[in-house]
Amino acid sequence: MRVIVTAGPTYEPIDPVRFIGNRSSGKQGYAIAKSLSDNGFDVTLISGPTHLPDISGITMIRIETAKQMLKAVQNTLLSSQQDIAICAAAVADWAPTFSNQKIKKGSGEPQITFTENPDILKTIATAHNRPTLVIGFAAETENLIENAAAKLKRKSCDWILANDVSPANEHNVFGGDNNHIHLITNETQEDWQTMSKIAIADKLTNKIQNHFENQKK
Ligand code: CTP
Repeated sequence: MRVIVTAGPTYEPIDPVRFIGNRSSGKQGYAIAKSLSDNGFDVTLISGPTHLPDISGITMIRIETAKQMLKAVQNTLLSSQQDIAICAAAVADWAPTFSNQKIKKGSGEPQITFTENPDILKTIATAHNRPTLVIGFAAETENLIENAAAKLKRKSCDWILANDVSPANEHNVFGGDNNHIHLITNETQEDWQTMSKIAIADKLTNKIQNHFENQKK
């Protein structure tokens, strides 16, 4: 089975030397890509800038911006029908308007304006060649379950892995090795408790395998 995974942050350039980014390490998405590949899935990993090495045995596509990530996803969907898409990337919601020249000091504080980036998960979930199973993440700082359930509907995806990214959370989700996930679907809710990102990846792989096994019956 073929699967697309998005991972890591996106970098949105302000001028030739500056960008706006976020704290995503890419660890969760890479762990998911590796676990799926180890279990026989044909994986394409589309990753924003991370410090993580390429994973052997999978197709790696490295991009920087949200728009480049969308293009890579669409090219992958066009080149071969995908069965599953998992959007673990922390995609920037807005892109600043780009200055072709380095913004110089001396002409006052720069006024940066933003335009909304495409929603990659929603684009995949509503595409004509939609993968059978589309899975997103929800990074929330409050009302985790309610917000994640609303996100599931808004983005037309099948499953959401919701995690609490508020500073009060006991885990440092961004960059840390552990996470506490709630799996939310249209029918069910599961609390996975705290575990390593690698264990979460293996549990998700297992869920996906069971899902397709049950569909065959
Ligand atoms: N996502 C995406 N493209 C975007 C924004 C988000 O594909 N432009 C995906 C993420 O990869 C994740 C899911 O959408 O799977 C939810 O991301 P999240 O940051 O929690 O939600 P947002 O859509 O940014 O909504 P909000 O900021 O209002 O919580």
